[in-house]
Order: sequence, then structure tokens, then C-alpha cells
Amino acid sequence: MASKKGKTICVFSAKGGVGKTILSINLAGISEKLKRKTLLIDLDLTGGGLSVALNCYSMRNVYHLIDDYINNRRRDFSEYVTKYDDYIDVLASPKDPRQGNKIEAYFIDDIIEQASYYYDVVIIDMSHVLNDVNLVTLDQVDKILFLMTNDPLELKNMKSIMSIFRDLEIDKYKVILNNSRDINKNYFSFFDLKNIIKTNIDYTITPKFYIKNIDTYIMNGQIITLHPKCSSTFAKDYLTMSTIMIDILGEGLGDNK
Ligand SMILES: Nc1ncnc2c1ncn2[C@@H]1O[C@H](COP(=O)(O)OP(=O)(O)O)[C@@H](O)[C@H]1O
Ligand SMILES: [Mg+2]
Repeated sequence: MASKKGKTICVFSAKGGVGKTILSINLAGISEKLKRKTLLIDLDLTGGGLSVALNCYSMRNVYHLIDDYINNRRRDFSEYVTKYDDYIDVLASPKDPRQGNKIEAYFIDDIIEQASYYYDVVIIDMSHVLNDVNLVTLDQVDKILFLMTNDPLELKNMKSIMSIFRDLEIDKYKVILNNSRDINKNYFSFFDLKNIIKTNIDYTITPKFYIKNIDTYIMNGQIITLHPKCSSTFAKDYLTMSTIMIDILGEGLGDNK
């Protein structure tokens, strides 16, 4: 068990398909490199592919955890997670999307809170929908990573989500511009993007991080940032992802808990 409460983060966006799942997995890899015990939670409850991407097939998932909570027969937290490796565990989303639709927001905050006592870092991969489960998640976590791409439709959605965040007084977010998802889309300059969304862009993942053979990684359940050559082949983006994690942990590279 982590010696003190771990950091909880979620990866959110205004649109699907912007790279949230890939980023969540890669940040877990960085967290492992920083020797942090990490839990990846797949809260994309109807379309989640995180455990599939990591080849982590589980008997129980977040649906069972909540169902057992409601029915007062909850097992130990560890019985709901699947081990990826010595540092990373996965709490999967339901295999059957019908179960995903049944999950209500009750206990989501408890689950995140509990996870933070067992892990140094909890990374929650989400859907882009502003439903109750996601609103509770956004409220509960220590930090929101808002992933965006250079896409006109997405920017319009993002503008409205940013104004909802302002209404809800949510300011614990960092914006990440993902230029690796679709390297041909560069409609707006960095300056224009900031002006459109009226908020700062904190980190940028460059087109260099476009992984041609990403499907091979997914088929093999591999995490790109754990590949021995990742830090040299993708030096700039590896550094950016490390900086994101270090900023979240709020401490220097060599520090230990
Ligand atoms: N760095 C990258 N290089 C190449 N393809 C990527 C990259 N990041 C994401 N993709 C591809 O983009 C698609 C959507 O990514 P995903 O992480 O599933 O998005 P989201 O979780 O936001 O819906 C996937 O098919 C994935 O393979
Ligand atoms: Mg996803």
C-alpha cells in the first residue's frame, strides 16, 4: 500500500478519438519509470479499450466493484484489479456496454478515494461525455488533464466545456495539445488556438510522437513509454510526458515518498 495518499488524475477531452486512452497508458508507463505504484482506471464505461489495449483481461471490473458496493458484499479492492506488471494495475471497464450504461455516479468518488490509498498514482481514462459519472470524477480528482487536438469541431466543443468549467469553478486542469494524433491537421497556430479556447495550453505533444505501428503495440499489449528506446527515439515528447507526471507529483525526479 502507498505510504500516503496518492495523486489522482483523469484524462478528459471535448471529443472522442483525440488520444486519451493512449496518453493515459503512456503516462502510466512514465509513472512506472518514476517507480510509482500506479492504477489505471477505465471509466470509458461503454467504449473503454484500455484493458483490451493492455491485454489485461479481468474477472471483475468497475461494474462489479460498484454493484458489490451497493449490495454490501464488497471484496478487497485488489480483487477487482488486474496486474499489468509489477508497478501497474488496471481496473477495467465492463466488457458488456449494457453494464456500463447501468453504472451510476454513486460510489465513483469513493472508489477514486480508496484507490488513492492503495496507489501512488491513479490515472483515470474517461469518455468525453459530460454525464454524472464524469462530473463526479472531474470533481473528485486532484488534477484534470484536458487533451485537445487541432480540430475545428473539437475547438467549438472545447470552448463550451471551458465555459462550463468556469461556471462550475473548476480550475484544477492542465491543457495538453496533442499534435501526434492526426499529424495532417494543423489548421490553427498555437497562438490562435489559445485565443479560441481562451485558456493556456500547458503542454504540447509533437507530431514526432505519431507512432506508425501503434496497432502493433496495442496488439501486443505494450506501453510505448516503457520501450527501452522510447526516451531516446521520442526524446522531446518523452520529456514532456515526464514533466507532466513530475508536475502532478509535485516533486523532483529523484524524490521518493
Ligand atoms: N501518438 C499516436 N500515434 C499514432 N496514432 C495514435 C496516437 N495517439 C492516438 N492514436 C490513434 O488514435 C486513435 C484514438 O486514440 P484513443 O487514445 O483511443 O482516443 P480516445 O481515448 O480519446 O478516444 C487510436 O486508433 C489510436 O491508435
Ligand atoms: Mg479512449
